[in-house]
Amino acid sequence: MIYDYIIIGSGIAGLNAARLIPKSKNVLILCKKSPWECNTFYAQGGIASAVNEEDVPAHIQDTLIAGANYNNKEAVKVLSENSFKAIHDLIDDGLEFDLNDKGELAFTKEAAHSRSRILHADGDATGRMMHLFLLKQCEHEMVTNAVVNDILIEDGVCYGVQYFTSETEQTTAYAHNTIIASGGIGSIYKYHTNSTTVAGEVQGICFEKGLILKDMEMMQFHPTVFKGTSFARKTLLSEALRGEGAYVVDENDYRFLFDYHEDGELAPRDVVSRSIFDYNQNTGLGVYLSFDKFEKNFFRKRFPNIYSNLNDLGYDLPFERVPISPAFHYAMGGIATDINAKVINTKNLYAIGEAACTGVHGANRLASNSLLEGIVFSKIAVENIEKENYQIQKSNYTKIIKTYTRNKNIDKDIKNILRKIMWDNAAIVREKYKLIDSLKQIETFLKEDVGRLLFLRLLTAKSILTAAIERKESLGAHFIKEK
Ligand code: FAD
Ligand code: SIN
Repeated sequence: MIYDYIIIGSGIAGLNAARLIPKSKNVLILCKKSPWECNTFYAQGGIASAVNEEDVPAHIQDTLIAGANYNNKEAVKVLSENSFKAIHDLIDDGLEFDLNDKGELAFTKEAAHSRSRILHADGDATGRMMHLFLLKQCEHEMVTNAVVNDILIEDGVCYGVQYFTSETEQTTAYAHNTIIASGGIGSIYKYHTNSTTVAGEVQGICFEKGLILKDMEMMQFHPTVFKGTSFARKTLLSEALRGEGAYVVDENDYRFLFDYHEDGELAPRDVVSRSIFDYNQNTGLGVYLSFDKFEKNFFRKRFPNIYSNLNDLGYDLPFERVPISPAFHYAMGGIATDINAKVINTKNLYAIGEAACTGVHGANRLASNSLLEGIVFSKIAVENIEKENYQIQKSNYTKIIKTYTRNKNIDKDIKNILRKIMWDNAAIVREKYKLIDSLKQIETFLKEDVGRLLFLRLLTAKSILTAAIERKESLGAHFIKEK
């Protein structure tokens, strides 16, 4: 059988694509673990949108300033001009965002936005509410616990994918069009905010096939995650908290961020992360997020999940400050696509959402532009596929279908070393010689007899390190410490 579409990933990008594909089409959606184990589910702050036509130039300008003007300007224009239409389509289909006292959409503010333009749902559970809504709408076939381990490509044509269905078994599925919506790379860093399903294997597959990975040195670190747990996945303290009045202090209650940038807590994300990192390194002082400007009932209503998560961890908000640090959050870089979301140098392979790189985020993503990117570019991808109506001939795929081993005994140790290397040497502040040493170490691991999934993650790490070495000067999230 040949599917019309295979979609890799069940986050906002994959599910919104599925929502827009005609019901008559044969669609196969694949995801690791359960459908809601994805970054979309954990998104807190909200979804950005130009508030109306008049706000488009300002939204574009804010996106470019945050992105250090390294953005693909055409992609930014497409993102912003399509934003309110894409969001209102969802609202018309029944998605509910929070409303203000007058019953109008409640827009909030986040760092580096020149006005309030972030919509949120159930306070600080925007991702979960959007994901639930999209999942309920999904009528296509979905296979869970499916881990894609290869993409079948020959002469620029994608014939389908191979995926593990268990620890030892794998299968192959063919499609006329394949959409990669497999998210970012979080789990290859030691400390991150991401779902455990997000580990960059598909970027590794693309690298292996010679497809272009773009801007892989541009990795974003969120400034405010809760520091008090031992898990790799850190609890996020949404930027919307700072947008509405929370502020960063050292252990002596000194608000040091204004020493780094005139906008203090509301400076672009890369600046805030770097400032916290630098201040802590230079002074050795602990860093905290303080909520004392909030009234308790308002806080509980506006941030119900953060309130209850931290309450479970023993914090009485908004009265107590909580220890914070930056952690890996988001990949601006990814699989290079054109403005129609088609993977460069392919005929029928598309990439959308965090996995993709249209260049829309430049060197640093503006807060809450990611959920928006997911809905805007998934729509563009589906429209383009329907228009082109590309059909494969299965018999034209002449390569051998390989059998892979998912995990091997040596993987666990190497996986931990990989995550430490990336956190120590390819994170907020980078040093050239450490990047070069790290790359050598990754090359050594790639020669070991490791399992397929680790091999792919190592390739993705290699692409990040190579790109970081190639970029000689600091730009946005890529910050090189001068010797
Ligand atoms: P994801 O939602 O991450 O989904 C990826 C999917 O791919 C999953 O289904 C996964 O199982 C699947 N997958 C991965 N690898 C494979 C494989 N090898 N085989 C099969 N399936 C695979 N952005 C905003 O705009 N606003 C916010 O408020 C916001 N808050 C955030 C809070 C947190 C804690 C995090 C982590 C991110 C936040 N972001 C936010 C970023 C945003 O949530 C993500 O960038 C976005 O949801 C990515 O959507 P996606 O559909 O591309 O990928
Ligand atoms: C947050 O709520 O701080 C995350 C927003 C984002 O990643 O865009």
